[in-house]
This record gives sequence, C-alpha cells and structure tokens, in this order.
Amino acid sequence: MGGPMAEEARDIRASAVLAGPFDIDLLARLQALCFDQPWGRDFVARMFAVPGGFSVLLKVNARTGRIPVGFAMCQLVAGEAELLTLGVVPDYCRRGLGRYLLRSCMDKAAARGATIMYLEVSEKNHAAQRLYETAGFSVIGRRPKYYKEIDGSQTDALNMHCSLVG
Ligand SMILES: CC(C)(COP(=O)(O)OP(=O)(O)OC[C@H]1O[C@@H](n2cnc3c(N)ncnc32)[C@H](O)[C@@H]1OP(=O)(O)O)[C@@H](O)C(=O)NCCC(=O)NCCS
Repeated sequence: MGGPMAEEARDIRASAVLAGPFDIDLLARLQALCFDQPWGRDFVARMFAVPGGFSVLLKVNARTGRIPVGFAMCQLVAGEAELLTLGVVPDYCRRGLGRYLLRSCMDKAAARGATIMYLEVSEKNHAAQRLYETAGFSVIGRRPKYYKEIDGSQTDALNMHCSLVG
C-alpha cells in the first residue's frame, strides 16, 4: 500500500505508516482507547525488541494536521506473519479505516516476505471477525477460554489465517 496520502478510505484521506520506538507512548494510548484491557506501555515497548516485529500507525487528515486514529502490531517469523493487535479509535470506526489498516499490514508483511498471516480474535468480537472475513481470512481453529474478560469469565479465541500470495 502506498505512502502518506496515497489512499482514500471512503472520503477520509488516510495513511498507514511504520511506527518507531518514539511512537511507543502513542501506540499505548491508542490501544487503550480501543481495548477494554490494553497491553500497557511496557508490553508495547517490549514489542519493539521482538525480532521480526513491526508496528503501523493509521493517520487521517484533520484541520489541525495529520492525526493518529489507529494502530496495528505484527510479527514475522520464518515467512509467517501474525497480526498481534489492531484497532481504530471509536470516533473513526465504520468509515473503512479498519479495512484499510488491515490491508496495509498484509501488504507490509508480504513485502517483508511473509506468505501467510495468522491472527486470533474473540468469538464475541463480531465486528472484527467480519472485518477479517471480508479481507479474505478464514477460521482454522479455536482456542478454548483464551481470553479472560474483566468480569472474570473466559471466552474462546478463533484462529484465522489468510494467504498473502496470489
Ligand atoms: C474491529 C475494528 C478494527 C473495525 O474498524 P473499522 O474502522 O470500524 O472497520 P471498517 O469501517 O473498515 O469496516 C470493515 C468491515 O468490518 C465489519 N465491521 C466493522 N465494524 C463493525 C460492527 N460494529 N458491526 C459489524 N460489522 C462491522 C463490516 O463488515 C465492515 O464493512 P462494511 O462497513 O462495508 O460493512 C474496530 O471496531 C476496533 O478497533 N475495535 C476495537 C478493537 C478490536 O476489536 N480490534 C480487533 C481485535 S482482534
């Protein structure tokens, strides 16, 4: 996917750019806006030390300049990519930005030599499941009681994958 300003997600001018260690605080803040149980800054920071890891910031045009509204973190091991986390802040959801961000991660992983992408998603997260399905992912397995909810209950994860070639 192209560089800044290269794409339009519906009528919003968006770009998905690689993040660096100087973006750790921003990534942690964005994740906290998107998830009930965010990783926290230290865990986000550790991701930058992981071999094969890369992070993406989603930005959109606003009157004040380009503002960050989403993020994703991936890891590549031996030609296989894993999408570890991805989110669009609530005010900017349902505008095609999640799809654009996911596509950008898939393209960036493929450009690094990955031929397949894996991810896990809560069986209760129908919005994300739909996003992934419409991007070409399919369910290949289930991890029982993988997520622990705030109320202490446990939820299964669905394993999904998508080819990045062809
Ligand atoms: C999941 C998430 C990234 C979707 O981002 P988004 O910018 O709203 O997604 P898009 O607007 O690109 O929507 C793409 C498709 O996803 C599906 N989708 C997105 N939100 C949905 C919702 N609330 N209900 C049902 N389907 C939804 C639709 O199929 C949509 O296509 P359509 O608009 O043409 O119908 C966003 O809701 C989010 O960050 N959620 C919290 C964090 C999260 O759950 N991350 C994924 C963890 S695995």
